[in-house]
Amino acid sequence: MKYFIDTANLNQIKEAHDLGILDGVTTNPSLMAKEGIKGEEAVNAHYQAICEIVDGGDVSAEVVYTDFKSIVEQGKKLAALHKNIVVKVPMIPDGIKAIKWFTDNGIRTNCTLIFSAGQAMLAAKAGAAYVSPFIGRIDDSGWDGIELIQQIANIYAIQGIKTEILAASIRNALHIIKCAEAGANVCTCPLDSILGLTKHPLTDIGLAKFMEDAKKFA
Ligand code: E4P
Repeated sequence: MKYFIDTANLNQIKEAHDLGILDGVTTNPSLMAKEGIKGEEAVNAHYQAICEIVDGGDVSAEVVYTDFKSIVEQGKKLAALHKNIVVKVPMIPDGIKAIKWFTDNGIRTNCTLIFSAGQAMLAAKAGAAYVSPFIGRIDDSGWDGIELIQQIANIYAIQGIKTEILAASIRNALHIIKCAEAGANVCTCPLDSILGLTKHPLTDIGLAKFMEDAKKFA
């Protein structure tokens, strides 16, 4: 499974990249707004800065329009910023139409706001490189996000679909483990959830003892 970080914060992206395990980045309009970036020029410069940090890893840049023509116009501009930009398109009819257009024109897409297997099937049919099921938001509403990952993974395996399942809206380290078990190809996570994978109280207790004993032969 590949590890993406789900943020537009350059310091967090650098920190995850420095761990040596980062495969890519996802952003969304809310995450960009959180960084206080304003205006098309600043937004585009920010995407380029992200691409430079994770050179070689895919970076999802989301369109902020909902009609076919505007999605295509903005998507073309975003894709032209850097070879690793993947245009993130919402799961709506005009989004599907745009994903098909991007596919036919050699531009890779990530279909976002996926909450059902049917949506994941249609996005794949249109040629999306990635689909993003929102695990945490499904759990928040009393359904099981991991079950959706399993269902999409089964369908894609049976049908021989190559679209990658990019598990999104991750809330904790357990989500990451469960997504790997369920067959996600990629997990996009907040930095805290990635660092959560390093933690275990027995590791801390064991290390404290080793460091203490190491003093005996220093
Ligand atoms: C997907 O790519 C989104 O950026 C993200 O994972 C949404 O997560 P949230 O539910 O924590 O906002």
